[in-house]
Amino acid sequence: MSDQVKMTAMNYASDRPAAENPVKIMDLSLRDGHQSLFATRGRTEDMIPVAEMMDEVGFWAIETWGGATFDTMHRFLNEDPWERLRTLKRYIKKTPFSMLLRAQNLVGYRNYADDLATAFVDRAAENGMDIFRTFDALNDYRNFETVVKQIKKSGKHFQGCICYSLTEPRLGGDVYNEKYYVDRAKALDDMGADSICIKDMAGLIAPYDAYNLIKALKAVTKTPIHLHSHFTSGMASMSHLKAIEAGCDIIDTCMTPYAYRTAHPAVEPLVMSLLGTNRDTGFDIKKLFAINEVLEREVMPKYMHLLDNSKCSIIDINVLLHQTPGGMLSNLVNQLREMDKLDKIDDVFAELPKVRKDLGQIPLVTPTSQIVGIQTVNNVLFDTPEERYKMITGQVKDLCYGLYGKTAVPINPEVQKKALKGYARGEEPITCRPAEVLEPEMEKAKKEIGDLAKDIDDLVLYAIYPVTGKKFLEWKYGVTPAPPEVMAITMDEVKKREELVAKAKAGKLVEPKAAAPAKSENVRTFNVFVDKEYFSVEVDPTGDFQPMAMPAAAPRAAAAPAAAPKAAAAAAAPAAAPKAAAAPAPAVEGGTPLLAPMPGMIIKNCVNVGDVVKTGDPLVILEAMKMENSLGAPCDGTVKALCFGSGDSVNKDTVLAIIG
Ligand code: CO
Repeated sequence: MSDQVKMTAMNYASDRPAAENPVKIMDLSLRDGHQSLFATRGRTEDMIPVAEMMDEVGFWAIETWGGATFDTMHRFLNEDPWERLRTLKRYIKKTPFSMLLRAQNLVGYRNYADDLATAFVDRAAENGMDIFRTFDALNDYRNFETVVKQIKKSGKHFQGCICYSLTEPRLGGDVYNEKYYVDRAKALDDMGADSICIKDMAGLIAPYDAYNLIKALKAVTKTPIHLHSHFTSGMASMSHLKAIEAGCDIIDTCMTPYAYRTAHPAVEPLVMSLLGTNRDTGFDIKKLFAINEVLEREVMPKYMHLLDNSKCSIIDINVLLHQTPGGMLSNLVNQLREMDKLDKIDDVFAELPKVRKDLGQIPLVTPTSQIVGIQTVNNVLFDTPEERYKMITGQVKDLCYGLYGKTAVPINPEVQKKALKGYARGEEPITCRPAEVLEPEMEKAKKEIGDLAKDIDDLVLYAIYPVTGKKFLEWKYGVTPAPPEVMAITMDEVKKREELVAKAKAGKLVEPKAAAPAKSENVRTFNVFVDKEYFSVEVDPTGDFQPMAMPAAAPRAAAAPAAAPKAAAAAAAPAAAPKAAAAPAPAVEGGTPLLAPMPGMIIKNCVNVGDVVKTGDPLVILEAMKMENSLGAPCDGTVKALCFGSGDSVNKDTVLAIIG
């Protein structure tokens, strides 16, 4: 037994004597739990059955909001994120609410202007938020300044996070060593943090590193220390225990059905492990059991289909091998697969630490994990022996400019210079607090959305998410009906689905067939292989079908008047005229095509037809995996055709423009 944890009493009863220094517990089931396991698809109506019971457990706080919930709710669940807060508050009256706030990124993916950041925090506090767990992907606390000012003004709890990152297999090295974290903790103390959280989003913290780190932090600050760790690599339960031995004040857990895998250790084994010690939580394990019963019976069946059951292992050993977040690795694999380049995965693993080092050894967390990951893939796929960083994403340019903040170590000056060549905001990077170069956003948003935003909450939602936010407000106020895929599924539907699956497994699935509708011209044939069997399946999309934009890569096809490429381009855009997608790309005699190097969505064309361009001048901005790529002219010449417009999806090798 360690020096810190000792047995005091061995009493199973819930009225056992209170421990000397009970570990406080924050429950994450209603936010990070379902975010980690079920793609944040948890609905408010499925939290209500356990809300009052959870209020009785004695949690230090319940995490109910923030992170990806705001985005997912309005986009995929047709739920007003603000309303969830107010609703849950009616059931959970004693336990404080906590939210994950991405500092100046709020609950989105970029730095927002100060006026919007202030309004967001103000409204979150007004709607019932108590604890603001705040982090910045670069651990640059200048990005905290605006939100912390408002958190304090609203009289709420400011929890400052240090994103846990490594460059070595274990704590240490030149950047992320004990001193780094101690210094960051002191900086948070100076900002008036009410508690300090080690945010180990990737499950990287090893048990003895957790012990040493918490000891070191406890030695320099009296502010309560909170550990947040994911189970992804399998170490978190051990790290929790060692952190508690070192004196950690608060630990994050989930109710069992939301625990483990990429989520967090469960609360019940921890309660049992500490029972009768001086760190005993004091929780009544029977109450936890009762909550789990309700969740298993009434809630989880609606979400089981979202659980990733593709593997037998519930931990990701890759995280131990590469010290990178599990989600980031699966994104890289998906992107390579989409491009049919999965054989390059080992090159990606080798390139990743180099790119990260070039970009200032930044922590890997939303959104930096994506920024580093996609740039790595671009380097592996497009660099040549003569040229590195051939295709730099817009977000890497922003990072090099200083728009995300200060990196842990300076960015490689050569990469920085290359990235900022021709950058719209200027070629000289900034060193000030990033939001200082951002224009106010609230007034502009108000003008844009007009009467569709009925109150300040609507307006803030729209300002953070203009495209999907507007769509949501239209559903909310009945301007357009919400599509069926955003509706909740009922237990009745779950039951029907389960019956069908059972029937299919028993080989009894012979449903009476309705008269088949006539095949449309959109019918496509797929070969489906199941084990060694093979089926040919015809698929005919119903409803609002728009064929994929796939102009044949034949720019030199039949002659068409070169004077009308704009019209041809419009016709090729699927949104304008779906039927035209089968038509060949604008035919231009003898031109050089710009091909899409990867599948993605066109953000915009940077030039007009008839413009004279030089090799490498930006022609088209293509978004792939949320990152923007500027595609340069393949040769000197005149722009003869632009084949797509903003919002169009394209496949790899689609002709995007023609230079003649
Ligand atoms: Co987390």
